Amino acid sequence: MYSRKGLGTPKEGPYRSDADVHDGYTEQQQEQYSKYLKKLKSDFDESWCKKSKTNMNFNEYERIKTLGTGAFGRVVLLKHVKSSKLYAMKVLEKEKIVKMRQVEHTLYEKRILESIRFPFTVCMEFSFKDNSYVYFIMPFVPGGEMFTHLRRMGKFEEPLAKFYASQVILALEYLHFCNLVYRDLKPENILIDKTGYLKITDFGFCKILQGRTWTLCGTPEYLAPELILSKGYGFSVDWWSFGVLLFEMCAGYPPFYANDPMKTYEKIVGGKYRCPSSFNSDLRDLIRNILQVDITHRFGVMKGGVMDYKNHKWFRGLEWECILNCRTQPPFVPKYRGPGDTTNFDRYDDEPIKTASRCQYDADFTDF
Ligand SMILES: Nc1ncnc2c1ncn2[C@@H]1O[C@H](COP(=O)(O)OP(=O)(O)O)[C@@H](O)[C@H]1O
Ligand SMILES: [Mg+2]
Repeated sequence: MYSRKGLGTPKEGPYRSDADVHDGYTEQQQEQYSKYLKKLKSDFDESWCKKSKTNMNFNEYERIKTLGTGAFGRVVLLKHVKSSKLYAMKVLEKEKIVKMRQVEHTLYEKRILESIRFPFTVCMEFSFKDNSYVYFIMPFVPGGEMFTHLRRMGKFEEPLAKFYASQVILALEYLHFCNLVYRDLKPENILIDKTGYLKITDFGFCKILQGRTWTLCGTPEYLAPELILSKGYGFSVDWWSFGVLLFEMCAGYPPFYANDPMKTYEKIVGGKYRCPSSFNSDLRDLIRNILQVDITHRFGVMKGGVMDYKNHKWFRGLEWECILNCRTQPPFVPKYRGPGDTTNFDRYDDEPIKTASRCQYDADFTDF
């Protein structure tokens, strides 16, 4: 006899709630969910305090190809020869990290990647360092960047934008609950899994935040006004970036844009943008409530917290717990032709890994 599973043969989710499914998100549901978040936070805190294991035998792995590049290194597809298991390995050059004064950020990136566990964020399998590099080895997310799909489709239809937006909200809620500010939300850092669900990657600017911070980091179009104005900022900057992301997913371009970053900053600080005529009134209302220059009026930062999102009318009908448990059928599933398929990623020239005879910058990286 065949079994009747829901569309997309859902995985068993991590979170159980005994609340009835209905429209919106009630205080009771949120209260119950907070208990689950507290458990996740205590898991995070426990891993944070543990010393990680860093042993890996490179001979057991095969480097397949580059998946992405960045300022300090690259991410390559890696295969464990015996098991055929695939990984994404972020390779960061110690020399570049030191020269660009990113040692502290990189140490944070490593410890955070090791300690987080949430359905919509990547995590670390293991890490490693040698004479020239540090290596972060994560599960390979094969669907490519949201950026690639967004540019190809032009913009996302509303059900797809809602599907993605809800996962980003849940991920930010989790990170902030663990006192982590992410600071680099943008479609390039959001990967699509083969199921169609999201994984946020790149914790290079993420850090534990108590109180306020002042560091200028992120990507021009996605920077919050309070960050540009060097006022000292907190978790509010991630909600602003979420507003920019939501706009870009639905419009196909960001709300504040100019050729010169200084002009972009002027526009951001001025807080003026124009919604395309295709945006309906609920979407406009939601974006207006997020892209508030005055943080005391910004969704996510106000008294209602994340509930302001979960109960906003643009999300009417969305079942948050089904999203969390990956029980909602994704509106889009990327093509994946089997293990090792990298056609969802751009092509890059591969570069040989350097080998230095002596360990470089040993003192800077003792904590790795
Ligand atoms: N786990 C992963 N699976 C597949 N691709 C990944 C993974 N992590 C990163 N990438 C790819 O590598 C790119 C660069 O990685 P990222 O961590 O964002 O580095 P950077 O800090 O240089 O921006 C990403 O935009 C993505 O295309
Ligand atoms: Mg990145």
